[in-house]
Amino acid sequence: MKNKLLNIKEQTLAKLNEIKNLDELESIRVKILGKKGELTLVLRGMGKLSKEERPVVGQYANEIRNDIENYIAIRKKELIEKMNKIKIEEEKIDVTAKKGSLKIGHRHPLNKTMEELENLFQTMGFSIIEGPEVETVANNFDLLNSPKNHPSRDLSDTFYINEDILLRTHTSTVQIRTMLNNKPPIRMVSAGRTFRFDDVDDTHSPMFHQIEGLVVDKNVTMSNLIHTLDVFIREFFGEDMKTRYRPHYFPFTEPSAEVDVSCFACHGEGCPECNYTGWSMELLGCGMVHPNVLRNCGIDPEVYSGFAFGMGVDRITMVKHGIDNIRLLYDNDKRFLEQF
Ligand code: PHE
Repeated sequence: MKNKLLNIKEQTLAKLNEIKNLDELESIRVKILGKKGELTLVLRGMGKLSKEERPVVGQYANEIRNDIENYIAIRKKELIEKMNKIKIEEEKIDVTAKKGSLKIGHRHPLNKTMEELENLFQTMGFSIIEGPEVETVANNFDLLNSPKNHPSRDLSDTFYINEDILLRTHTSTVQIRTMLNNKPPIRMVSAGRTFRFDDVDDTHSPMFHQIEGLVVDKNVTMSNLIHTLDVFIREFFGEDMKTRYRPHYFPFTEPSAEVDVSCFACHGEGCPECNYTGWSMELLGCGMVHPNVLRNCGIDPEVYSGFAFGMGVDRITMVKHGIDNIRLLYDNDKRFLEQF
């Protein structure tokens, strides 16, 4: 029996010298010292020994077990140290390595335009407000005085989430939010995404961007509106820009107008780009805030008046940079975006 125990010890130590990782170490430990391990089975067989033999063999077996356990602990420590060394070696960072394989991007032309517009209006005393893209039908239509039968409310024009919730079709929703939560004087702009059920073509996309402006105070007049927009257009597009205000209809403004500016290509001379009219059409919509809209927001139209305007950021970005296809703004082709 002593020989058997000695054999087990020698074979085990030899095996422990050969192993390369902790998994192998554990499997040897289980095989020898585990519940059904070799040494365990031998110890269990001790019952068959005589009374005299039992304590002697028992003591010997315990020594062997201790030796094996100690050696397992030593090997474990060695293996862990070795593995840590390899790991540190592998993870070493070469601080002298050349970088530059990863190209850093920059802001998208649409975001740049929105930022430029916001900055410009900020210098004119407007504050910048944000509004959600998922809106209530009330904020998008009802409170903006849009009649129930207005075509823009149609299922074929608007993305409805359910009867009361939709993806906003314009940023005018932020007018309502601002007026419901603030008392005049109000002077704000808000830019962001808007959504309409449009097929994609060179100038349309179901998702596009607008910037909205709103001023409400005592004695605000149409001439304030025209002056503000004229200053903005000259600052943004150039001193020689002319503007033209054409009467139009919006449910939430009265009177309403659409604004044309001199053609960006020929500066008003007349060219194929502007059908020889000299005008770039419909740059923005605007008007005096409808008394019903003020009333809907708890503002007395007998005391206060206001003007509002809204324009397409995609359109402005396109005319500014001579981009002739809106798809380019959404394709995310780096070769295109790198130019801005
Ligand atoms: N919301 C209008 C549109 O999307 C634009 C607009 C804004 C008109 C504010 C007047 C006043 O066409």
